[in-house]
Amino acid sequence: MTAKTATLTVGSKTMELPVKSGTIGPDVIDISKLYGATHNFTYDPGFTSTASCESKITYIDGDEGVLLYRGYPIEQLAEHGDFLETCYLLLYGELPTKQQYDDFTGRVTRHTMVHEQMTKFFTGYRRDAHPMSVMVGTVGALAAFYHDSLDIADPHQRMVASIRMIAKMPTIAAMAHKYTIGQPFIFPENKLDYASNFLRMCFAVPCEEYKVNPILARALDRIFILHADHEQNASTSTVRLAGSSGANPFACIAAGIACLWGPAHGGANEAALAMLQEIGSVDRIPEYVRRAKDKNDPFRLMGFGHRVYKNYDPRAKIMQKTCHEVLGTLGIKDDPLLDVAMELERIALSDEYFIEKKLYPNIDFYSGITLKAMGFPTSMFTVLFALARTVGWIAQWKEMIEDPSQKIGRPRQLYTGAAQRDYVDVTDRR
Ligand code: SDX
Repeated sequence: MTAKTATLTVGSKTMELPVKSGTIGPDVIDISKLYGATHNFTYDPGFTSTASCESKITYIDGDEGVLLYRGYPIEQLAEHGDFLETCYLLLYGELPTKQQYDDFTGRVTRHTMVHEQMTKFFTGYRRDAHPMSVMVGTVGALAAFYHDSLDIADPHQRMVASIRMIAKMPTIAAMAHKYTIGQPFIFPENKLDYASNFLRMCFAVPCEEYKVNPILARALDRIFILHADHEQNASTSTVRLAGSSGANPFACIAAGIACLWGPAHGGANEAALAMLQEIGSVDRIPEYVRRAKDKNDPFRLMGFGHRVYKNYDPRAKIMQKTCHEVLGTLGIKDDPLLDVAMELERIALSDEYFIEKKLYPNIDFYSGITLKAMGFPTSMFTVLFALARTVGWIAQWKEMIEDPSQKIGRPRQLYTGAAQRDYVDVTDRR
């Protein structure tokens, strides 16, 4: 079969560019030789039409609202599996056998504690520090402790660092929460499953027994599955770019956390809840929908829209179902925020502007209501997103490091600044 090519004519030059096909999804035009042949760059701010890498981990069909982790639909993984099984799948590429699952969960369980000296970092933070600032600082500092898993050229050390990140993120996240509310840190309890352990570290106190609500634990585990990976989103691309320079995995994950914090990305769950609280009641929705459509108003409906999904985010559907499940199990009959969210979704999905721009609720639209009902403060919502996304970041980082064609990422630019000019002495400046 003849190789597919794309013909490009630049001025008097015509060149054939190789076209590569994936398993599913759009073909790509390989432009890696373009600059050498034409002295031209391509130009794609925001990378709306640019594939930055080849990957086998996650596939999104934005038009159809499909999300696959290593080929498995997110709906099936959320329904039938658990988060650590999904972690194994993302890291190793296959669903684990019972033996592999037990071995993997055993390894994660034995890395849940952090070096006791790390608790000293927390005393340096203000109590009212945003937990995401604590996460960026503390996760980056892991490199100051775990010197035996910094050599990225050693496959064993890469895997140890991966396990450590997955295991320690819940512990650090819970410590960040406890520190801001002035309660003592709770150690992990190894007999508990991943989500139950995290709930206990967040909500238990030393002076009484804490019983994990199994329905909440299952719901939280499912929420972690939904957030685990999402191909080359902004924070994952940040982790890949940081890792391409050879930076250690802890520093790369800290970079991913920093990027996720933004309200256009992982910070949207916190911003979406704040927006629902600001709207306050169903009768105020039309005013906010009008503002969201007003070009001169920077206000946007947080939790709506997506760079890739031009259909309903499949995770949002599962998130909405989980939201109802959690509110039901907690006996929360009529949550005004949920009423506002459901009515806002109904109005937006029937509004010409949102239909034309293909703006649907994304994963962040219902997650805030669910996490608030579970007892998490709003400032912890993006921390939970980072906790769950750590496995995706690590899997993508590992794939990048193990790619034989890997090189440092170094984009170019369209320069529109001053052309070369000579220095002017200060006495001659006007
Ligand atoms: C996540 O990439 C990922 O995969 C991310 C993520 C993951 O799992 O990693 O899925 C997690 O980040 C989900 C997205 C959470 N962010 C929000 O909910 C914030 C609100 N959404 C918007 O900021 C926006 O939709 C983005 C940032 C999510 C996507 O922005 P794009 O792709 O750059 O689209 P755009 O800004 O060019 O918008 C296209 C049009 C614009 O109008 P025009 O300039 O064409 O006239 O749609 C409008 C926008 O003004 N628009 C919105 C809107 N989102 C886009 N108008 C009102 N409300 C919105 N939410």
